[in-house]
Amino acid sequence: MKPILILAALLAGPALAADKIEINPPAKGTVSNAQGLEAWVRIYEVVSHPRCANCHTGASDRPMWSGPSYGRTRVHGMNVQAGESRIGAEFVLCSTCHAYREEPLDTPHAAPQVAADWRLAPPEADWFGKSSDDICNQLRDPDRNDDRDYLALAEHLDHDVILHWAWNPGGGREPAPFSLQEHADDILIWGVAGYPCAND
Ligand code: HEC
Ligand code: HEC
Repeated sequence: MKPILILAALLAGPALAADKIEINPPAKGTVSNAQGLEAWVRIYEVVSHPRCANCHTGASDRPMWSGPSYGRTRVHGMNVQAGESRIGAEFVLCSTCHAYREEPLDTPHAAPQVAADWRLAPPEADWFGKSSDDICNQLRDPDRNDDRDYLALAEHLDHDVILHWAWNPGGGREPAPFSLQEHADDILIWGVAGYPCAND
């Protein structure tokens, strides 16, 4: 960590120290195809994890409840539908239950309340139950990833508070694997390697 970041982290307290990530892509030409594929395997472990995939449900407008804390995999209870708005505007707003609160909520089975704009991911970012190749091809396709290159993908990870939650969910939920920093590093390694997918 750079000294200036350590200082900023100390001044801001422990929460920020744990959250802040650095975007340091490896130099072009220094990452082999094989290293890129290894990074992808780790990326897939993250994006297919319940803390991510439960919201990345593709054309379905139903969030999922899956992972050990849910016991069994099922669609979100209470007939919740995200609609085309993805925030439930046509039915019941996600924020009715997933409101934002400042203090951490550690009660098992309570609705996560970490972002005022809690909503379902866009249909193109379709990850729930999808194969490694499916997601790999989607994430490198500018037409289906909101025109993001690897730098924009990594920066998105830092800016999104929901992601900071996914690695520190509380309430007995299993955190996403690795760490937010390691995941961002893997996106950069994969991108610099030329976005390899196993089906190439
Ligand atoms: C609460 C629902 C929710 C959860 C949980 C969630 N996401 Fe998302 N995700 C979204 C929404 C909404 C967008 C669209 C926001 C945007 O494009 O700025 C998005 C977009 C993305 C994108 C942009 C790429 C694309 O193809 O559009 C990436 C990368 C991403 N999420 C990664 C993750 C990862 C990694 C996790 C788990 C650690 C995760 N998300 C968990 C809702 C979620
Ligand atoms: C009526 C209240 C309510 C509404 C409305 C609601 N949720 Fe939830 N949601 C919950 C509760 C409660 C849980 C946690 C259930 C548990 O842990 O057993 C939850 C959990 C989730 C999870 C799983 C998080 C995880 O990984 O553990 C996702 C994803 C989710 N909701 C998305 C949404 C989206 C998207 C909307 C709007 C389209 C929405 N919810 C609307 C109450 C609600």
